Amino acid sequence: MKILVTGGAGFIGSAVVRLSVSRGHQVVNLDALTYAACLASLASVADSPLYAFEQADIRDRAALDQVFAKHAPDAVMHLAAESHVDRSIDGPGDFVETNITGTYNMLEAARAWWVQAGRPEGFRFHHVSTDEVFGSLPADPEMKFTEETPYDPRSPYSASKAASDHLVRAWHETYELPVVLTNCSNNYGPYHFPEKLVPVVILNALAGKELPIYGRGDNIRDWLYVEDHADALLTVLERGALGRSYNIGGENERTNLELVHTLCAILNELRPKASGSYADQIAFVADRPGHDGRYAIEPSRIRDELGWRPSVTLEEGLRRTVQWYLDNETWWRPLQGRDGVGERLGTGRGAA
Ligand SMILES: NC(=O)c1ccc[n+]([C@@H]2O[C@H](COP(=O)([O-])OP(=O)(O)OC[C@H]3O[C@@H](n4cnc5c(N)ncnc54)[C@H](O)[C@@H]3O)[C@@H](O)[C@H]2O)c1
Repeated sequence: MKILVTGGAGFIGSAVVRLSVSRGHQVVNLDALTYAACLASLASVADSPLYAFEQADIRDRAALDQVFAKHAPDAVMHLAAESHVDRSIDGPGDFVETNITGTYNMLEAARAWWVQAGRPEGFRFHHVSTDEVFGSLPADPEMKFTEETPYDPRSPYSASKAASDHLVRAWHETYELPVVLTNCSNNYGPYHFPEKLVPVVILNALAGKELPIYGRGDNIRDWLYVEDHADALLTVLERGALGRSYNIGGENERTNLELVHTLCAILNELRPKASGSYADQIAFVADRPGHDGRYAIEPSRIRDELGWRPSVTLEEGLRRTVQWYLDNETWWRPLQGRDGVGERLGTGRGAA
C-alpha cells in the first residue's frame, strides 16, 4: 500500500513511518517541518526506496493537490498538527489554522483526488486524534472514555482537535469519503520532543535541574508506548470499519507524580547519581490553566473487533525510553536549543 503520512517528522508520525516501511508499505511523508519536526527521527528509513519526503504545509491547499497528483496514494494517515497544550494556551491561532483549517484542506484535497481516481473502494482517510477531545473524567475508576463519550474539549488544543474530528465525520456522511478515526491517550517513547513531560523529566534529571510538576502532580494520564500506538494505527487503517472511530489506550493510568517517581527510580538504576535520588529534584510549580484532571481510555472496541493489544507494559516501555535517551544524546541535544524549549509555557499570561 502507498500511504501518505502527514506529520511524519513528528513524534508519533515518525514511528508510523518507520513501522510502515518495515512492513513493506510505500510511504510519502508530508511535513511542513515546524519547530516540532525532526528528520533525524527518520534516519533509519531515509535511504529506503519505499520512502519519499515532501515538505509542504497543510494550510496550503494547492501544495496538497500537487502531492496527491504526484504520488497517487492508496491511503492517508493524517497526523500533522500543533500538538502541545501549553503552546495552545499562549498562541491558539496556530492551532486553529493547522488543526482545523489544515484538516479541512486535507479532506478536500483527499476528496478531490479520490473522486478523480474513480472513488477507489480501498481508499482510506485515517484521521489521528486524541482522547483530550472528551474532556476531563472524575476520579471514579469505573468511568472511562468510550467511543460514545460526548465531546467536551477544554483547551485550545483539544478544541481544535475536536473540530477536526467533526469535519472528518461530516466529510464521511456528506461526501461518503472513506474515513476511519482514532482517539489515543498520552504517548511516550523514543524520539519524543524535549518539551513534553517524559523527556523533560529524563533530561532535566540528567542535567541536575528541577523536575517541574504542575500543581500537586495528581492529574491522571493513561500512557501508551508510541510504537504500540503506531501498530494500532496501522491495524485500524487496514481493518477498521468505514466511518468508525476507535479509542486507543494502554490501560496504564498514573498520576503525573507517580510517573515521575517511576522515571526517577529507573534513572537511579541505569545512571545512579553520586549521592541521593533523582526524586530529590522534584519541584512543584504553578498549575496549567484549565488542567484536565483525568483521562482514561476504554479500549475494548479495538481489542475485541480488531484484536489489537499493547505489546509492552508501562514499566518496560519507560525503561526502554530512559535507555534510549541515555544512548541518543546526539538526537535530543540540538532540539533543546529550539524556540521555547526549556521555558515555562502556557501560563495564560501571554498577550492575546
Ligand atoms: N503526543 C500524544 O500523546 C498524542 C496522543 C494522541 C493523539 N495525538 C495526535 O497525534 C498526532 C501527532 O502527534 P505528535 O505528538 O507526534 O505531534 P508532534 O508535534 O511531535 O508532530 C507534529 C508534526 O506535524 C508537523 N506539522 C505541524 N504543523 C504542520 C502543518 N501546518 N503542515 C504540515 N505539517 C505540520 C510538524 O512539523 C511535526 O513534524 C497529532 O495529530 C496529535 O493530535 C498525539
